[in-house]
Amino acid sequence: MLKKVLVIGSGGREHALAWKASLSSDVSAVFVAPGNAGTALEKKTTNVPLQPSDFEGLLNFALDEQIDLVIVGPEDVLVNGIVDQFREAGVPCFGPTKKAARLEGSKEFSKDFMTRHKIPTAQFQSFSDLEKAIDYLKHQDYPLVIKADGLAAGKGVVICRDMRQAGQCIEEMLSGEVFDGAGEKIVIEEFLQGEEASFICMVNEQDFLVMASSQDHKAAYNGDAGPNTGGMGAYSPAPVIDPQMHEAVIEQVIKPTINGLVEDGISYTGFLYAGLMIQDGIPNVLEFNCRMGDPESQVIMMRLKSDLVTLCMAALTGRLGETEAEWFPQDALGVVMASQGYPGDYAKGRRIDGLETVFDNNTKVFHAGTRLVHGEVTASGGRVLCITALGKNIVEAQKEAYKAASSISWQGGWHRDDIGHRAVYRFQASE
Ligand code: AMP
Ligand code: GLY
Repeated sequence: MLKKVLVIGSGGREHALAWKASLSSDVSAVFVAPGNAGTALEKKTTNVPLQPSDFEGLLNFALDEQIDLVIVGPEDVLVNGIVDQFREAGVPCFGPTKKAARLEGSKEFSKDFMTRHKIPTAQFQSFSDLEKAIDYLKHQDYPLVIKADGLAAGKGVVICRDMRQAGQCIEEMLSGEVFDGAGEKIVIEEFLQGEEASFICMVNEQDFLVMASSQDHKAAYNGDAGPNTGGMGAYSPAPVIDPQMHEAVIEQVIKPTINGLVEDGISYTGFLYAGLMIQDGIPNVLEFNCRMGDPESQVIMMRLKSDLVTLCMAALTGRLGETEAEWFPQDALGVVMASQGYPGDYAKGRRIDGLETVFDNNTKVFHAGTRLVHGEVTASGGRVLCITALGKNIVEAQKEAYKAASSISWQGGWHRDDIGHRAVYRFQASE
């Protein structure tokens, strides 16, 4: 019997997951709640006007439609327990439960977890008392990193260059006035140098399947400068994850994490994303996410040759350990196009031109903040598109992605010009 899949979310990550699921010959229909213009226009894919926070509506939809597999994109609904509700109702859902999602939902929990299970990470202390935190600041080296304990939509991490800035930052966070109270508890941690990479696995209890490595660019502007964003582009593989580092990450991070979860009585099913800072051969964990990355999903799904739905079903039926994933050998690179003003307040509702351009199979335009208005695709979010291309090496992938990006435009739409620069530099240096 052909399967029906429901993807929850509306970003570029969800477009990539839904697109990949729709390519499965085992799948008759993919629903995306609520989706975006990209998922609305995809063959075999239908948007459902339900918000991710509407657990009851989504569950009723899944039961009515007899959905065979739910894939949850965003972290907040995972942290709020959407998977627990689907599981209770007997709907197969690929994602961690509320308890397991605390690995992302609470920085203090995840740092304590890493300490307990000897997973390499920055030195830290957590605080909820302002005076104690201020006192601690006096004895630290700078820069210093301050993190809100709870979810803060990627904005809860501040790198402070001196004590004055750190003091201001913790005062704001601990007042509970910013981030909806997510900062009423904070983690203060040592600043780590090195090169970042995203190491994502599919996990089911003690079994795991490693996805292709990737790296995103969080800073808004060229040269990795400017404010943090949700991610302005990504590429896969991340050259810093060479075969030796791959082994080191498995042995020092992934296995201790999986064993630690089992030891702590936490059953984990879903994507597990380790954000790493690699220095001197040590993969330090900056954060765990309980979901796929965005825009990492876009480049990883482009490179995944295997059937995503088969992999998720293998995880949900206890067969992940005997399952392997196949990858296209090419590099993938994705360039995010954003609205004028992003990551601050941005303009909305502008028509996007050039989307009708026909690209070859090695290029794909993933949508994020887009909406169909009277049949026209308009920019409705901060990050709007992720133009993703495969190439025989990173230089070719970069060239193809930017070539495609140059045929798409809207008033005020912009992108960084240097996505992949570290990988390109490494590649050119090795030529
Ligand atoms: P996180 O949400 O914890 O991944 O933090 C967001 C970004 O802040 C990371 O991708 C890093 O670029 C940076 N960051 C976080 N923690 C540290 C750290 N301890 N040292 C240096 N940079 C960090
Ligand atoms: N690209 C970073 C994230 O998904 O958290």
